[in-house]
Amino acid sequence: MTTDEKMEALLNEGRVFPPPDRFAATANANNKSLYEMAENDYEAFWAKQAEELHWFRRWDKVLEWTVPFSKWFVGGKTNICYNCLDRHVKGPLRNKAAIIWEGEAPEQQRVLTYWDLYREVNKFADVLKNQLNVEKGDRVTIYMPMIPELVIVMLAVVRIGAVHSIIFGGFSPESIKDRVLDSQSKVVVTADGGYRNGQVIQLKRNVDEALAGNDAPVTDVVVVRNMQYHMDIEIDDKRDTWYHRAMRKANHFIPAEEMDSEDLSFLLYTSGTTGKPKGIMHTTGGYLTGVHYSTKYVFDLKPEDVFWCTADIGWITGHSYITYGPLSNGATVVMYEGSPGYPDKDRFWHIIEKYGVSIFYTAPTAIRTFMRWGEKYPQRRNLSSLRLLGTVGEPINPEAWMWYYKNIGHERCPIVDTWWQTETGSIIVAPLPGVIPVKPGSATIPLPGYDVAVVDKDGHPVKRGEGGLLVIRKPWPSMLRGIYGDPDRYYETYWKKFGNLYFTGDGAKIDRDSYLWLLGRVDDVINVSGHRIGTMEVESACVDFPAVSEAAVIGIPHEIKGQAIVAFVTIKDGEAHSLDLIQEIEEHVVAKIGSIARLEKIFITAELPKTRSGKIMRRLLRDIANGNVIGDTTTLADPVIVEQLKQRYESEEGN
Ligand code: WTA
Repeated sequence: MTTDEKMEALLNEGRVFPPPDRFAATANANNKSLYEMAENDYEAFWAKQAEELHWFRRWDKVLEWTVPFSKWFVGGKTNICYNCLDRHVKGPLRNKAAIIWEGEAPEQQRVLTYWDLYREVNKFADVLKNQLNVEKGDRVTIYMPMIPELVIVMLAVVRIGAVHSIIFGGFSPESIKDRVLDSQSKVVVTADGGYRNGQVIQLKRNVDEALAGNDAPVTDVVVVRNMQYHMDIEIDDKRDTWYHRAMRKANHFIPAEEMDSEDLSFLLYTSGTTGKPKGIMHTTGGYLTGVHYSTKYVFDLKPEDVFWCTADIGWITGHSYITYGPLSNGATVVMYEGSPGYPDKDRFWHIIEKYGVSIFYTAPTAIRTFMRWGEKYPQRRNLSSLRLLGTVGEPINPEAWMWYYKNIGHERCPIVDTWWQTETGSIIVAPLPGVIPVKPGSATIPLPGYDVAVVDKDGHPVKRGEGGLLVIRKPWPSMLRGIYGDPDRYYETYWKKFGNLYFTGDGAKIDRDSYLWLLGRVDDVINVSGHRIGTMEVESACVDFPAVSEAAVIGIPHEIKGQAIVAFVTIKDGEAHSLDLIQEIEEHVVAKIGSIARLEKIFITAELPKTRSGKIMRRLLRDIANGNVIGDTTTLADPVIVEQLKQRYESEEGN
């Protein structure tokens, strides 16, 4: 087992939910024809999806592929911003709401129609081009809160053919500095401050700190005034410009640049397991084709829908499914500035009720938090406008899936569990909700147009019922084109392992119906007595115990077994922490998946260390349990948690 890198498939989840008849009857896809089309002629299938966009010039060739570099819609000319705005304002969508924005302070609300957005984007495109001399190909760093100006700025950047690099507003000056230097950005766009969980974030001050005393090539910093009161920030007259002042002087129309299909559209930095962040490169024609297509079919988007993706635009999920996918489809999106628990724990449900949200897309980590808070919060609000739910970012354990299905979807809404990555640009594995029956905890099967497999270490597909490594076998339009400034690292990270297969870094199993079950990152795999065990299934078994809300498992060295499993668990509000509880969780896990997964130790904690996008950082838990020096914590949402956890863990070990 150990030598061929297969993984154990431990959990057995038997529930199946076919698409509800009423949903399937009107779904954008309600039969297998898309699958068949993609199967029969892969390139023709993708050409058909690309035809849904506006092209200034049609491509000469659909695909050029020399491992590991692909080119899509070669020779075609298009513009992402043109597709998201210009083509809509020429028709009946002109006065439709594009963005419904809700501030964290409950009474704050703004609505921008497609025309409003078009006008503002044009003006800012003029500011960039004619006031700040940003040219095609120049990089613009964006470090902003979740306000409509963020969408305006990103669309303006791609309108003039420049390249954006958006940095999540929770990152520190040090992280901004690294990313600005790596991308060699000419302009930074930020805001005076932002609101989060009732607190004020010092965005401008962080930018000042990031740019001080180094040779960043930044010539201009544009500052949006976002705070409702005067905030004490410094303005450097030579370098800084207020957004509203620049906009007052701006022209009202700047034509969208005719971009080559393969021109860069943006960079997005993602932290690898070690070392410096990677600037993932995305292009124009292929990227937009991937996000446009997936938004239309995975979310079954209709003209009357109100679509809410709760991610921050600082992550790929926000890029693809708040801005580009929905807007290119002419959708109405909800954009929320703040956190789910402010001012009360029903804030998300309140927003759904207020705007009649019909499609809701969030992360398992959020769902587990809602479970922990309890049912009474969603019960306070009317959620009957919802018709489809989605999840992304981590494997969702069946327990959380069922909670979401019952308490938010009221057993009426299909759930699309969507697997993808910053690198893939758009959703790769997910059900078409009007066609594919779903199983709690499985992202189901690859979307039409994607060739995904689970393989052993030699790249051979594993048998059904077995686990292995998740790979993608054919290039796809929205795939990354490389790591900015580092072609070798691109090859090393994703291609070296198999040569001709894209390696995702994730473990997965494939069941009898060819459904995929994601098992977690393979770097996190635990090896107990020669059995390779993914983190997902053991964590899932822990969370299945009623009192547990979240769990993270890691391996520690063990004399006999090689490694033994330690679980860090958080318990639901109102549950008591006791020795009995620990024993009961242990027995539950054994009953659920067998004694091979017997937990060596269960450690109850109030919080788990997570990245700012909500992923549990098992690497730090390994450091704690193994008594190592704690590794890099710069991507943590709250670094204090790790220190506290370490002290408590060590004092318990000492007893
Ligand atoms: C994980 C987020 C299981 C996975 C779009 C992947 C998932 C990494 C799922 C990418 C899912 C994302 N089920 N695991 N539905 N979605 N992941 O780059 O490990 O922030 O490789 O992109 O998240 O994270 P990233």
